[in-house]
Amino acid sequence: MFFRVSSARALIVGLAVTTVSAISQISIKGSKFFTDDGNQFYIKGVAYQLTPHDPLLDTNQCTVDASLMHELGANAIRVYHVGPTGDHKGCMDAFAAKGIYVFADLDTFNTQINQDDVHWNQSQLTAFTKVLDEFVQFDNTAGVFIGNEVITMANGSDAAPYIKAAVRDVKSYRDSKKIRKVPIGYSAADIAELRPMLQNYLVCGTDPSESIDFFALNAYEWCGSSSYTVSGYDQLTKNVTGYPVPIFFSETGCNTNRPRDFADQSAILGDQMDSYWSGAIIYEWIEEANDYGLIQYGDRTNSSESILDGYPRSGTPTPISPDFNNLKSQWATLSPTGVKESAYSPTNSPPPCPSSTHDGWRINGDVSLPTLGQTYTAGATPTGTATGSAASATATKKGTASGRKEITGMTIGLVGVMFGFMWWL
Ligand SMILES: *[C@@H]1O[C@H](CO)[C@@H](O)[C@H](O)[C@H]1NC(C)=O
Ligand SMILES: *[C@@H]1O[C@H](CO)[C@@H](O)[C@H](O)[C@H]1NC(C)=O
Ligand SMILES: *[C@@H]1O[C@H](CO)[C@@H](O)[C@H](O)[C@H]1NC(C)=O
Ligand SMILES: *[C@@H]1O[C@H](CO)[C@@H](O)[C@H](O)[C@H]1NC(C)=O
Repeated sequence: MFFRVSSARALIVGLAVTTVSAISQISIKGSKFFTDDGNQFYIKGVAYQLTPHDPLLDTNQCTVDASLMHELGANAIRVYHVGPTGDHKGCMDAFAAKGIYVFADLDTFNTQINQDDVHWNQSQLTAFTKVLDEFVQFDNTAGVFIGNEVITMANGSDAAPYIKAAVRDVKSYRDSKKIRKVPIGYSAADIAELRPMLQNYLVCGTDPSESIDFFALNAYEWCGSSSYTVSGYDQLTKNVTGYPVPIFFSETGCNTNRPRDFADQSAILGDQMDSYWSGAIIYEWIEEANDYGLIQYGDRTNSSESILDGYPRSGTPTPISPDFNNLKSQWATLSPTGVKESAYSPTNSPPPCPSSTHDGWRINGDVSLPTLGQTYTAGATPTGTATGSAASATATKKGTASGRKEITGMTIGLVGVMFGFMWWL
């Protein structure tokens, strides 16, 4: 699957990696991320998943990609699936050397919480904590996700207490082992019927040991020539002004209008939003069938079964024009400084746990969480009806140039379009 790297290049890469300098760890105070030197941290990230299971094992590849990401102006990547085993140090150091942080999911295809068969058990917990143990050792691990889009349908909210149970158990493990308090968050699909209930539920209640440390949203609402109001970003922002923990876009970068100009970055990292949001991760680094790539490693080919979907997944990254430069230009002008940690006294407190709604959110208030080993049985928990179900599945396609204030089930449309290509979404 991978290109062979010449030994000359491998040697140069090897030397570069030995000069890694320290990177300041990220921690959370109130609703903001800070580096250890007390500066607020805003994410300018890219989604990075070259191979389905773990792209952080090929040091040479990470090194060339990290260099180009640095040129792009990125300071973070998110990786949907990594493994607990194998040597991640080469890749993590290569990214650290370029000032790039990593957000990684703790789950894999086999261990993720599944909205169609909801349970949370010891095997899952053990798998999650193994990944945590592996990545906690790297200073540039900025955070971990308990899941990505566990809930993809308006009728999937019964899984929410299981997400929270996973947070509780992984946090308990982290804190009892006295390892670094790597922030633990969740990356949500953009489902109108569940907003803002899901984001509030994951931080509600009186027990912070059961709450996520940060929330992130995969949103493709700003398409083509849009604006803060046309895209609906203003409405999203209205509902997060009092949010007690950091929140950011864990996927953004609508591609229905070409070329992509990434103008939404100027809103997210600008005056209107930078007091409330902590930046964005652009979907995605590698070009694939879904056509979201910022770079490609070569032309699509029909020739080799070993190349997933025909897209080369390693080699020299070539920027896709003009998208790569468009994003680079946006980010170059956007450097919010936020507040100094020393000057910041958080005032937001957890919201009340949301009541169930008639059109989707089924969890009524601060229900007791499932125990480890529990399986969801329909009818055994809350109230509400499942009428919201089909709304997401019929999904609007991602926005038009005119934009929509609120796009129902966008991510489902995306998954539908890309199913089979983008199966780790
Ligand atoms: C946990 O659930 C998984 C399926 O997600 C199953 O394969 C595994 O056997 C279960 N483990 C335990 C301890 O029940
Ligand atoms: C904001 O929250 C209100 C309820 O509190 C909800 O009706 C509305 O849909 C939310 N808006 C967005 C954009 O999530
Ligand atoms: C790959 O196959 C498709 C149809 O199967 C064809 O249209 C396309 O030209 C081929 N591409 C290459 C690079 O051979
Ligand atoms: C949710 O809706 C989908 C599509 O309508 C359906 O297939 C699924 O069974 C529903 N799930 C639940 C838990 O109601």
